[in-house]
Amino acid sequence: MPSTSGGTPDRLNVRLAATLPPPAPRDLVALCVFGAGADDVELCGATGATLDAVRDLVAAGEFKGGEEDTLLFHAHEPGGARRALLVGMGPHGDDDARGSRRAAATAVRRANEAKARRLFFVMPACSDEARAARALAEGAHLGAYANDFYQKKEDGDEASLAEFVIVTGVGDERVRDGVAAEIERARVVSESVNWARALADEPGGSLPPREFARRAAAMAAEFGLKVETLDSEEVRARGMGGLWGVGQGSDNPPALIVLRYEPEGSGEDDGELFAFVGKGITFDTGGISIKPAKGMEEMKADMAGGAAVLGALRAVAQLKPRRRVVGIVPSAENMPSGRALKPGDVIRTFAGYTIEVVDTDAEGRLVLADGIAYARSLGATRIVDLATLTGSIIVALGDHRAGLFSNDDEWARRVARAAALAGEPVWRMPVSDDYKKRIESDIADFKNYGGRPDATGAALLLSKFAADTPWVHLDIAATAWLEEPAPHSPAGATGTGVRTLVELVCG
Ligand code: BES
Ligand code: MN
Ligand code: ZN
Repeated sequence: MPSTSGGTPDRLNVRLAATLPPPAPRDLVALCVFGAGADDVELCGATGATLDAVRDLVAAGEFKGGEEDTLLFHAHEPGGARRALLVGMGPHGDDDARGSRRAAATAVRRANEAKARRLFFVMPACSDEARAARALAEGAHLGAYANDFYQKKEDGDEASLAEFVIVTGVGDERVRDGVAAEIERARVVSESVNWARALADEPGGSLPPREFARRAAAMAAEFGLKVETLDSEEVRARGMGGLWGVGQGSDNPPALIVLRYEPEGSGEDDGELFAFVGKGITFDTGGISIKPAKGMEEMKADMAGGAAVLGALRAVAQLKPRRRVVGIVPSAENMPSGRALKPGDVIRTFAGYTIEVVDTDAEGRLVLADGIAYARSLGATRIVDLATLTGSIIVALGDHRAGLFSNDDEWARRVARAAALAGEPVWRMPVSDDYKKRIESDIADFKNYGGRPDATGAALLLSKFAADTPWVHLDIAATAWLEEPAPHSPAGATGTGVRTLVELVCG
């Protein structure tokens, strides 16, 4: 088994500085340019010869400041040649944190290409310095992520960037302490996002459910979380027919991963137990209702929801909020074989309801039904599940919003607010018996599929297992995976969900 455990090491040191140092060969200075068009450009932070160069580039229309545009140039200052990178911010928007995060990530990727060792990122003027610094620091760590762990490294291939320095003249010591604390929190959270991303980028062949559970346990030991994994025999013995059924066709047995965070001196919390449940299908072939070959390789990331739950617990364990959290990841490999579930089979779930399996490719809802019911049996007072659940949410929302489904308006608003603050926006979708035909079976309590589009049908089925516990379901099928490389990120896993969950618990 390749040793990629723990994801790519992120050696990027992020710190604050009040001024720019004199020019040095392996330094790069990033300057933000806001602009909707050539005649509406605002420059931040440049001085002297560098400022003249920026003005010339902008006046000549060679840099328009469009979002994620970059331009690298050299300017001759009295102290030597200064390497500078213009980073386009687009027009000032309603979410400047998102813009800052992307700009920092983009700049880090360009800095690595340019073999810079230190990147000085001049912070644009803003109203909330601490929030802006956090967004920049998050972006820097996220931009340092590379999913090249299976590629042979030649000399000089390694990431060169060692330091990301946020340059801002912010005021007194107290403000600077606040900003430094945000930078530290950003490190903890983004390293956990990258850890989750590396798991989702890992091929199905090297991350079957048992290995997924082993990685979770190693992480739990490192950060002081309680961990318990139910193996396939226990899964069967406890009556988790959804999880066991989905896993039964594979030579790699299913597992239920359970992580717990309990604050010290418990009893001081408010009695709430948050449960995060993540879909952990380590590879989804579709089973007997097998998927077409085209694009099937992306189904190695069908455990992205589970990885996000583990990543969130990893960050929570370090940030130490006063709230109990349990993470639950039902994990299985959905394979066709002589033992696999057949279309028409009926499974009996942990909650006692039976489900007719009309389509074995609608497997996520089967494992989540057991995960959600198990969360309730542990005393969860509020539940969030995350799942790469349906192709239909991709059709409905594209890849800029996750679908949010809920049985509780107040909880839905809290989760949506946390998601917005985290820069992982959601869009609320209905959970309603209007869609019940999609899940009504002639022979069982429910069926798992009733025709396309089915994001609403899948959510309605899950709601039956959440029952009267406040619950939110996030369908992250579109947002968990980036199809094409972007200036701020390689193609592949995005780690979406970690930041939302951390914001919800620690925000
Ligand atoms: N894991 C898939 C959903 C998915 C599709 C995630 C594309 C990411 C990208 C899920 O298990 C699935 O197969 N859904 C099917 C269900 C249908 C065939 C019953 C779908 O949505 O197509
Ligand atoms: Mn499927
Ligand atoms: Zn799936």
